[in-house]
Amino acid sequence: MKIGIESISMYVPRYGMDLRLLADARNVDYAKYKQGIGQEFMSIPSPDEDIVTMGANAAEQAMEGIDPQSIRTVIFATESGIDQSKAAAIYVHKLLDLPQNCRTVEMKQACCSSTSALHFALATIALKPNEKVLIIASDIAKYGLGSAGEPTQGAGAVAMVISATPRILELGPDVGYFTKDVMDFWRPNYKDEALVDGKYSIKVYMDALEHCWEHYQADTNAAFEDFDYFCYHLPFSRMGTKAHSHLARQQKVPLSSQELQRQIEPSLRYNRITGNAYTASLYMGLLSLLDSKELNLAHKKIGFFSYGSGCMGAFFGGTVLPGYQDHLYRSEREAWLRDRKHISYTEYVEFYTHRLPQNGHNYRTSRHRSGSFRLAGVENHQRIYERVPASMGAAADSGKALAAAPAV
Ligand code: CAA
Repeated sequence: MKIGIESISMYVPRYGMDLRLLADARNVDYAKYKQGIGQEFMSIPSPDEDIVTMGANAAEQAMEGIDPQSIRTVIFATESGIDQSKAAAIYVHKLLDLPQNCRTVEMKQACCSSTSALHFALATIALKPNEKVLIIASDIAKYGLGSAGEPTQGAGAVAMVISATPRILELGPDVGYFTKDVMDFWRPNYKDEALVDGKYSIKVYMDALEHCWEHYQADTNAAFEDFDYFCYHLPFSRMGTKAHSHLARQQKVPLSSQELQRQIEPSLRYNRITGNAYTASLYMGLLSLLDSKELNLAHKKIGFFSYGSGCMGAFFGGTVLPGYQDHLYRSEREAWLRDRKHISYTEYVEFYTHRLPQNGHNYRTSRHRSGSFRLAGVENHQRIYERVPASMGAAADSGKALAAAPAV
């Protein structure tokens, strides 16, 4: 029996900022962002967007053509939780009108809970092949105005339907794991922004990669050369390149810069123009690779490395299925990314510093461009979500002209 990804979709907010504006504001050479870190543009959520609206938007597209009755589990992976008790999955379950005979949970372990969700889904389907699992990974990466992590910020969601009738990627049971208690990046409950020891976090990421690979290799006898392409967790795109050369060096595989580019570059394109989306980041990298028009990836083997600070890592492999191109939303995705509204530095600061009332008071959010769902406000300590007619989602504040967006 094959088990894997039947459908996959992503959503990013309709707003973003060119990092040239951030470089000017911070008096930093733009080359540091573009070449040094590998980032050109960051996705920015508007005040009426949160992990639920982003997740529901991604999930609605991933569910196109899939019988909602087949979904028996919804797992929401995030490290930007909106409630200490209730799972964000339940809001999405309602917005998408999913069946009541369904379990709906939220999972957390920094950026890699989406990967654990994926492996829990595989195990579920191995036991109950008629069931399908909807996984939603949705996050908003915030480090603070003027912080070292600021140019890597981003936001977005990926949704995947996992089933015994995969059309995109087949996945096996083998995973190399690594867990160690470290403080490289964390976010205490009283803070909106992550605390991070940036340089140390890169070192721990590399250590976790080495250990995960060793564990995977010990279990499977896999060789580096068994994989045609690699997708890494991408806190920023240059991290993928650094990690891949590190793994090749550690494996004593001589990798020319052309070969390194070939194996890794297609997975980095979306991250450069969206920024970090924590749990969604690795799977946006997968979509970036799958969307590459010049590549026919059928039967190609992809190596994945998922990293969640704190820390846990996982290395696993997947094989692309023939016909996968027919089940992507490539042209819609490219148009969406291209048509995002470029905001000014001042608007970025306004969006960034917007906070919902901290005391639960009734509040209506201002209407901005959105997908099919938006956060309408807060009433009696409860977040209120609403469906947005397609014409309104694109046009809510369309008074200002769109600047040209970066090519994808
Ligand atoms: N032109 C070209 N390149 C330049 C340059 C210029 N003018 N100025 C600097 N650079 C290069 C530097 O040489 C450096 O390259 P190398 O890595 O090859 O040495 C690169 O730009 C970055 O420069 P710095 O190291 O000086 O940058 P920094 O200290 O300001 O911040 C960072 C970098 C630590 C990654 C910071 O962005 C950060 O803290 N990010 C958040 C944490 C993070 O992403 N960690 C990654 C692992 S943890 C994880 O993966 C989980 C997660 O999602 C957060």
